[in-house]
Parts: sequence; C-alpha cells; structure tokens
Amino acid sequence: MGTKAVWLYRSFRSLLDSCAVVSRQHLLHLGVGVRGVEAGGLRIPIGREKMRGGSLCSDDMPAIAIRPYRSDDVSDLVALFRASVRSLGRRDYTHAQVQAWAPDLIDESSFARRCLTKSTWIAECEHRIAGFSDIESDGHIDMLYVHPDFHRRGVARALLAHIHEIAQTRGMERLYTEASITARPAFEAVGFQVVTAQTVTVRGESMTNYRMEKQINRAPRP
Ligand SMILES: CC(C)(COP(=O)(O)OP(=O)(O)OC[C@H]1O[C@@H](n2cnc3c(N)ncnc32)[C@H](O)[C@@H]1OP(=O)(O)O)[C@@H](O)C(=O)NCCC(=O)NCCS
Repeated sequence: MGTKAVWLYRSFRSLLDSCAVVSRQHLLHLGVGVRGVEAGGLRIPIGREKMRGGSLCSDDMPAIAIRPYRSDDVSDLVALFRASVRSLGRRDYTHAQVQAWAPDLIDESSFARRCLTKSTWIAECEHRIAGFSDIESDGHIDMLYVHPDFHRRGVARALLAHIHEIAQTRGMERLYTEASITARPAFEAVGFQVVTAQTVTVRGESMTNYRMEKQINRAPRP
C-alpha cells in the first residue's frame, strides 16, 4: 500500500474504532466511501469473528479488495467457478446437476469472452482471488461465485455492494439476476426479492433457480 493509501486506511480504521456498534452494512458504506480515493480498490474487513459484539478489527485483519477483471485472471476464475459450484452448489443440487453446471471441460476463451463483454469484478483477499461477479449494461448480474475457502466471510456481500454502487453511479433503475438456490440468501441479504422460481435446463439437467431483482434508489445529489 502507498503512503496515501495507508493514511486513508488508518483514518478509516480510526473512524470505525470510534463507533460503539458497527454493523457489516455500516462497514460497507464506509468502505465504499474509501474506495473512490483508493484508486478503484474497495477494502473492507473480512471475517465474522472480527465483528462479534460490535467490536471491530485488529491491525492484522485481512481485507477484501475489489478490482476489475484482467485477461490473465481467466484460468483462476474457471478453477474458482468449478470449485464453488461443485462444493457450495452441491448443498442444494445433485451431483449430476453440478457436473452439468460446472463441467470438467470449460473453454477458457469462451469464459474470458463472457467476462470481457461485461463489467467483471474480482474480490481478492490475502493475495488470492476469493470471488467474482459482474454487471451488464441493463443491470443484469450473470455470475456471482465465491471460493469455498472464503465462504460466508462477506465476499459476496462486498461484490454486490460494489455492483450496487456501479448501478447507482450509472443511473440504473434495477439490478436483476437468476439466482441459484444456494445464492438466494446472499442476494436477499442485500435487498433482492424473488420475482419467480423457474426451472432451467443446463446440458440436459433441469434445475431450479430464482429470478430476483432489486430496485436502485438514486443517490441524493450533494
Ligand atoms: C452464494 C455465494 C456467492 C455466497 O457467497 P458468500 O461470500 O459465502 O456470501 P456472504 O458471506 O457474503 O453472505 C452474505 C449473506 O448472505 C446470506 N447467506 C450466504 N450464504 C448463506 C447460506 N449458505 N445460508 C444462509 N444464508 C446465507 C447471509 O445472510 C450472509 O450474511 P451473514 O454471513 O452476515 O449471515 C456462494 O455460496 C457461492 O459461490 N455459491 C456457489 C455458486 C452459486 O450458487 N453462485 C450463484 C450463481 S447465481
């Protein structure tokens, strides 16, 4: 981290330390405030144990950094996608369904095209890619995947907060997605609502997912 970023991060931390009770949502709002100055990086604390009882973090707290997708990320994203679906998705879908969703053979160049044709964002933690998501120009979120090693540590929440901020900045009126059974609670946690349940067929396997959406409130003018 450069000197300016260290100063900003310390100021951010002392601001947090002055709060008696701070929810994760508050942290995200504060983190979003820091992001613009820190050259495109969103850094927020990670790990629920750090938040228990409203107490905040120690100096060695790992953070989530959000950055844009780069072409050399593709192999890591394919591996993360496969691990995420086969491990986390397996809780709600059969073996055959997760194999169809994330097969052994995934064409990296098609996957790279899928990332490049959208605004794709990477969540990093401790120099590892912890998750990724994206937003299309009409507010559609195509992908949201978190590595099993970082499950339930606020990575999806951080990515969706970042995407919400992009949508707000671009004047979009809504975000929408087709959420898996596994992802439904993560979308609900940040204000998405189910529009309808549906059955889709992927490589011959039928599976349930949910059309979900969230209305975007315009940011108040300063
Ligand atoms: C869905 C997924 C992206 C969630 O990622 P995550 O980083 O673990 O989610 P977060 O830690 O940010 O969770 C945010 C909130 O969502 C809810 N949530 C997430 N996972 C949940 C679960 N398994 N059960 C209940 N609530 C859950 C909780 O409210 C959570 O907040 P809390 O931890 O403070 O209680 C991840 O499980 C995943 O990659 N799943 C497999 C792939 C998949 O289904 N992708 C979606 C394709 S549309």
